[in-house]
Amino acid sequence: MSAEHASNMSELPELPSSSTEARKQHAEISERIRSYNEAYHVNDDPLVSDATYDALFNRLIELESHYPTLKKNSPTQEVGAAPAEGFAKVKHARPMLSLGNAFSREDIVDFLARIRRFLNLTAHSPVEVVGEPKIDGLSLSLRYENRQLVTAATRGDGSEGEDVTANVAHIDDIPKTLPDDAPDVVEIRGEVYMARSAFQKLNATQAETGGKTFANPRNAAAGSLRQLDPSISAKRPLRFFAYSFGELSESLAQTQWNFLQKVEGWGFVTNPLTRLLHNADDIMAFYDELATQRPDLDYDIDGIVYKVNDFELQLRLGFVSRSPRWAIAHKFPAEKARTRIKAIDIQVGRTGALTPVARLEPVTVGGVVVSNATLHNRDEIDRLGVWVGDLVVVQRAGDVIPQVVEVILDEDGNHPNDATPYEFPTECPKCGSHAMREEGEAVTRCTGGLICPAQAVERLKHFVSRTAFDIDGLGAKNVEAFFELGWLKSPGDIFRLESDHGDAIRKLEGWGEKSATKLFDGINERRTIGLDKFIYALGIRQIGQATAKLLARHYGSLAEWRSAMVAANEADSEALRELINIDQIGPGVAKDLIEFMAEDHNREVLDDLQGLLTITDVEAPQVSDNPVNGKTVVFTGKLELFSRNEAKVKAESLGAKVAGSVSAKTDYLVAGPGAGSKLKKAEELGVTVLDEQGWLDLIATE
Ligand code: IVH
Repeated sequence: MSAEHASNMSELPELPSSSTEARKQHAEISERIRSYNEAYHVNDDPLVSDATYDALFNRLIELESHYPTLKKNSPTQEVGAAPAEGFAKVKHARPMLSLGNAFSREDIVDFLARIRRFLNLTAHSPVEVVGEPKIDGLSLSLRYENRQLVTAATRGDGSEGEDVTANVAHIDDIPKTLPDDAPDVVEIRGEVYMARSAFQKLNATQAETGGKTFANPRNAAAGSLRQLDPSISAKRPLRFFAYSFGELSESLAQTQWNFLQKVEGWGFVTNPLTRLLHNADDIMAFYDELATQRPDLDYDIDGIVYKVNDFELQLRLGFVSRSPRWAIAHKFPAEKARTRIKAIDIQVGRTGALTPVARLEPVTVGGVVVSNATLHNRDEIDRLGVWVGDLVVVQRAGDVIPQVVEVILDEDGNHPNDATPYEFPTECPKCGSHAMREEGEAVTRCTGGLICPAQAVERLKHFVSRTAFDIDGLGAKNVEAFFELGWLKSPGDIFRLESDHGDAIRKLEGWGEKSATKLFDGINERRTIGLDKFIYALGIRQIGQATAKLLARHYGSLAEWRSAMVAANEADSEALRELINIDQIGPGVAKDLIEFMAEDHNREVLDDLQGLLTITDVEAPQVSDNPVNGKTVVFTGKLELFSRNEAKVKAESLGAKVAGSVSAKTDYLVAGPGAGSKLKKAEELGVTVLDEQGWLDLIATE
């Protein structure tokens, strides 16, 4: 800390006596806080003591409590829900994935059966799994190089997270060094969480000091870990359970169970309720046991994770999309509460969907205050028979939007006297266009398209959102404000904001040179973007991140993709067949893509963006040099060492094509016992024939 700053910062200015003065003081302190933040994070050279920082920060909060409009663009809003821009990005050496869900015994039985089928095991062969409580916190990846902690990163989008290394310094459950027997590269993954007792204490202190209180322990943990100021993180009682790993330069164990024991020996904390389980009965008994203990634990759990114990089997089982085949999350039921519906409002989404939202008398559900709940659509309102004024049951599960699940009528089956039936609108409440429901669809949509401001603004919000263009400094609120000013109509306008409205933005209330520059820098940083994010950002109906990635990988470049979507508009065309043949793309998704590209205004948006941006091509996934890369393989006969599905997935991951029939183009025929006509044909054509072991040997040389 520099003495010069310390001496004049320790004294707070006097409380202002007018709103003009308050505004001036707020602006001055905000600027200081921002420069302290930068000094601390970027330069690693704090300018003031924690006490001074806190005093100034609290003054901002105090000023804002008298003049709430000052909150806009205030540093107080940035801390707590820390913006991603404050953190460096970290690319995960191995992606951080998510889990599929199970809700019933049936789902568990299915999960075990799927595993056996994939591994070609008989229905009764034992499959050992480890059951671990599913901690409701946020996942963290800790990278150790030469036995020193070098990076702590949040999950982020799974492939890239935020660098929070400075913020884990004070988490005692996280060892900063590993013992001598640890390999050179080790990534340990687990969950950061806040104990319930600590959460209550924190909220009490925050309330006393006028700080931000948190809705639940998970949010408190996330807000505390993602603090721009590590000295604030340091004061928050965060904890960590280790449960998994990323990159390792040497294997640590052969089973999950032994892995947990090993890392415990290194000083990590693993969950003490973890159990080795052998079958569905074991699993269900453990589930009931934990469900009973759940309310008494000092941390939130939202289910149990089961993981196949044997790592070799895990490797064979691999992944489907973003979740492992070898693990599943068995969720506990959602928590419920009763309250009254004060009103029903309609929200209009980016694709024009009209979603009814119930405004509730606030009620605590599983430790969280809920005042809005979704009613999904018109059918749901009919199914529930819900009226405005009704007493209802609402539930929330994790991060899912709370839902209305039941209406409570009186003994005679009547609604309360003051309740009134709800009429679903036939017009869009935002633009007045006709609202229509297509056959076979559950949603009612505004037909206003581009003239509907709600749709336009929601599309823009989607375009800049974290999972799409991820533009620093251009959040939902700013998008709305610029939209209302008429400066943002179509996505291309974002990239013209500086040239067309730069001066005006610098003069807007709450803006200044600094924040405007930050915004324009954020925008400029995104002038180059990958094709997959670009496609996703367009907000085409049904095109989520995973589908956008598939399309980008398949077509490679924007030009290819565009022309293919135009060509696919012809029934019976090769382009249409090719599109539908992409794994996981069906006729419904194809229709939405084609319709999108068929509209003039959408192609105009694309032309506009193409002129403003560099959209980078996507390279086909890198497969290392191996003897089957690019080859065509056919599997036939009764396979005994692996299932057909496992064989296909493995072959494709190595870059091979798997075909159903033998032709002159076939490179390998893998024949199990009982192979017939395909074997004969392969022999006639001189195709290399392998037995199952021969295939395994071939791909093992990889
Ligand atoms: S394993 C590929 N184990 O649940 C496997 N996850 O839905 C990745 N979580 O992002 C995760 N407790 O934040 C695993 N014992 C546990 C867990 C756990 C909580 C969270 C984690 C993950 C999410 C997946």
